[in-house]
Amino acid sequence: MDLKRYVRDIENFPKKGILYKDITPLLQDRKAFQVATVGLLTMIGDTRIDKVVGMESRGFIFGPLLAHSLKAGFVPVRKPGKLPFSKLSEPFTLEYGTDILEMHTDAISEGDRVLVHDDVLATGGTASAVAKLVERAGGEIVQFNFLLELTVLNGRDKIAACPTHSLLRY
Ligand code: PRP
Ligand code: MG
Repeated sequence: MDLKRYVRDIENFPKKGILYKDITPLLQDRKAFQVATVGLLTMIGDTRIDKVVGMESRGFIFGPLLAHSLKAGFVPVRKPGKLPFSKLSEPFTLEYGTDILEMHTDAISEGDRVLVHDDVLATGGTASAVAKLVERAGGEIVQFNFLLELTVLNGRDKIAACPTHSLLRY
């Protein structure tokens, strides 16, 4: 199945000059959604994963599904001011703007084997901030796992220390 048929290009969203990859056609099609989920799991293989970390918002779509299949816990990394307990914060630069990501201090235990999932790898700013959060918490990133990678932006160079897999490359 050609999953790229279910990814729609939206020009100038959310800002002028940005070509947005809209994955909602893939999500809303029962077969494409199934094939994509299995594809993401296949990239992981049968290595042990203790925690799946997903970043708000679109890392919350497949992240918990992967955690469920891997029998791992799920850790939400959130945008600032959303988490109620004590937290670690990392500022980062996004393809369109700057932001901060936060994670609870008790989300990851020392030595936890962590899979980080997000829908898109673009500049790698989001992923590298999450890598810092996980490492500060004492976790070991086993894999970065993305549905879609915009290779021209070289985001994987920012997370070069960790194995990085993406299902669809543009
Ligand atoms: C998008 C996407 C990734 C990130 C990738 O999230 O879901 O998380 O950008 O970009 P980067 O590699 O340049 O950091 P966005 O911040 O737009 O928010 P959303 O997930 O809440 O839609
Ligand atoms: Mg996102």
